[in-house]
Amino acid sequence: MSKPELHLYLIGFMGTGKSAVGPLVAKCLHRTFYDLDEVIATVMRRSIKTIFETEGEKAFRQYETEMLQTIVGSEAAVIALGGGAPTVPAIAQTLRTTGRIALLTADWRTIWDRVKDNTSRPLLADVTEDRGANVDGAFARFAARAKSILQPRLAVYHALADFTVDTSSLSIEAVANRITEYARTLTAADGGGI
Ligand code: S3P
Repeated sequence: MSKPELHLYLIGFMGTGKSAVGPLVAKCLHRTFYDLDEVIATVMRRSIKTIFETEGEKAFRQYETEMLQTIVGSEAAVIALGGGAPTVPAIAQTLRTTGRIALLTADWRTIWDRVKDNTSRPLLADVTEDRGANVDGAFARFAARAKSILQPRLAVYHALADFTVDTSSLSIEAVANRITEYARTLTAADGGGI
C-alpha cells in the first residue's frame, strides 16, 4: 500500500521569506499553498495584530494549532507557518508526522530590510513603528529584540528541519527553486513522496 503524500512545510523566523516563496514552490509542485497566518486572519475575520492585542499570544498559538489541524487533513500541500508556530509542541509533532520541513534563514540585516516597513507583526511592532531618524539605533533595537525571540526557537527550528536554505542573498525565485528541487528528490523510499 502506498503511503499518503506528505505536506511540505516552510518554517523560519519572521522575514525569512516563507510567505513570498511558498506560492512559487506550490506552483512548481502543482499543489495548493496555505499561509497559516492568512488562514487564521480569514477564518477569525481579524488581523493577527488584532488577535495579539485583544486576545493575547496564547490565544493566537491556540488558533495556529487548531487551524493547522484543519489544513493537515486536506490534500498534500505547501504550508507556510508563522515564525512562532513550531514552538508549540503539538504543532511540532504534527509537522514531524505529516510532512517534510524546509527551514528558511537569513541574516539580521536582510531580515530588518524585509520587515522594517511592515507594522503588522505584533512581536516587532514597537521596533518597526518607532524608527526615528537614528537608523543604526533602530536596527540595534530590532536586532536585540529579534535575537531574544529567536534564541529559544533555534533548537526547535534545527531539530525539525529536513532541509535548510539561507535566503539572505537569493532571489525569491532562487529560493523557491532550491526548495522545489529538494522536494523532488524525496521519493517513496524516503517514507513517502512529496
Ligand atoms: C510570529 C510570526 C508571524 C505571525 C505572528 C507571530 C512569530 O508570522 O505568525 O506575528 O511569533 O514569530 P511570520 O513569521 O510569517 O512573520
